[in-house]
Amino acid sequence: MDSRKLEELARRNAAALDGGGPERRERQHKEGKLSARERLDLLLDEGTFEELDRLVVHRCHDFGMDQTAPPGDGFITGYGRIDGRPVYVFSHDFTVFGGSLSVTNAQKVCKVMDLAMKNGAPIIGLNDSGGARIQDGVESLAGYAEIFLRNTLASGVVPQISAILGPCAGGAVYSPAITDFVVMVDKTSYMFVTGPDVIKTVTHEEVTKEELGGAATHNQVSGVGHFMARDDAEALQLIRELLSFLPSNNLDDAPRRECRDPADRAEPKLDTLVPVESDRPYDIRDIIHAVVDDGYFFEVQEHFAQNFVVGFARLDGYPVGLVANQPAVLAGCLDINSSVKGARFVRFCDAFNIPLVTFEDVPGFLPGTQQEYGGIIRHGAKLLYAFAEATVPKITVITRKAYGGAYCVMGSKHIRADINYAYPTAEIAVMGPDGAVNIIYRRELAAAGGDADRVRQEKIAEFRERFANPYVAAERGYIDAVIEPRQTRPKLIAALRMLENKTDTMPRKKHGNIPL
Ligand code: HXC
Repeated sequence: MDSRKLEELARRNAAALDGGGPERRERQHKEGKLSARERLDLLLDEGTFEELDRLVVHRCHDFGMDQTAPPGDGFITGYGRIDGRPVYVFSHDFTVFGGSLSVTNAQKVCKVMDLAMKNGAPIIGLNDSGGARIQDGVESLAGYAEIFLRNTLASGVVPQISAILGPCAGGAVYSPAITDFVVMVDKTSYMFVTGPDVIKTVTHEEVTKEELGGAATHNQVSGVGHFMARDDAEALQLIRELLSFLPSNNLDDAPRRECRDPADRAEPKLDTLVPVESDRPYDIRDIIHAVVDDGYFFEVQEHFAQNFVVGFARLDGYPVGLVANQPAVLAGCLDINSSVKGARFVRFCDAFNIPLVTFEDVPGFLPGTQQEYGGIIRHGAKLLYAFAEATVPKITVITRKAYGGAYCVMGSKHIRADINYAYPTAEIAVMGPDGAVNIIYRRELAAAGGDADRVRQEKIAEFRERFANPYVAAERGYIDAVIEPRQTRPKLIAALRMLENKTDTMPRKKHGNIPL
């Protein structure tokens, strides 16, 4: 071959690899961030990355853009493998026009998204971008919209994961927002629709980037983030781990891992984990750890709505989605944030064939004007709707309280849970003994005068004896078995094996109308 042809290829490749040049890369490192290519190296199995469109250049001729047209145009796109399974990726290169989105690099992203959909594999976006490329005008907006459309079409078909590893502002936030999981890095990433400067002009409110849209804000306050990593490397490792629980697409099963933890392992300490006093808090994660394979629980949205715990674990090697009330926070009450958190997680698991295991200990919905004005009716309904529509295997374990509407919502038999267990400590009733006695014995208590306290205590004890147990529900078949807590793991694994080939459907419809 004419050596000039090879030289030309080498020159273009070198320019693509150089991105915005060593100075800008150095600045990236100084800010504690990795370069776009270093990130891909850490994310993917070694040597598996195949780049596409490395030689694409922008087509903007205004604003002196003709002078600089680095090959790749600021996005690195392609495919590779994680734990041997295919994934499709795009990685913003902040060193090239601030990683901004042009019509040309948007087309690169759309190409890998289309390939991911055709081939049924996850899409992972590594975001670090100044947003729409200003010089591209409406063409870059069109590029974003094309990506948003694909995010929407891919939702529930292939897992979509976004890492936010730098700026993500304006309408650009809506692509990650549609994806299934958002991983943010503490102190170096931020997301907001309008930045601090605009906010100051419009509302005179002063707020830093970090306070407004940093990783802590989105993981603790807004619920936009699902994971908070210390640095880029940890964020990328988190994504690899997350994927180990997920199938490649909605027709696939999640991968099984070899399991040395015996399926029939009884765990005596579970018999005493739920406190004898029904209002004493305990950490529901202690129960989860004692039950799942090797005690390993991969928590999702760990810092948000901590009165509700969700995440992945394995039982006999098979991934399951765990959903649980957390009695250690707000007594495990359901509120707006926990309902939204739970609903989204349940729907993800349902879309991707991941069985749901629910641990229930819930005194009810959180009372108060703040919750009512904020729309707890509408938001609580999301969780109910999500559980009811889910057709994956659903198993519920009531560890203690299952009161009122929350009993119905948290994977009850009546909304298609397959197997419902209760511990002997379970209390299943319309409401707690104190509240119930105040209502149904109001007249007797008023008549008792100075004796009211004694009468109240008697009635509470009576009510507890009659209703605050699992046996009324078990006598009606709403609970399939009252189990010794130590048997939780073997019972769950037996039920999951039984449900291995479960099929259930929804009525034919375009889509439901989940209360949003
Ligand atoms: C073109 C951009 C750019 C953009 C940054 N650059 N953002 N070029 N379009 N949107 C370029 C800068 O000119 C600079 O080029 C390089 O990227 C690095 O930017 P710096 O400002 O030096 O970096 P830094 O100080 O770290 O600040 C990063 C930043 C800031 C906070 C992201 O650049 C910024 O505010 N950019 C504009 C953000 C923005 O408003 N984007 C539009 C959002 S609206 P040189 O050559 O000097 O290195 C949006 C709408 C989407 O995205 C709508 C979807 C529906």
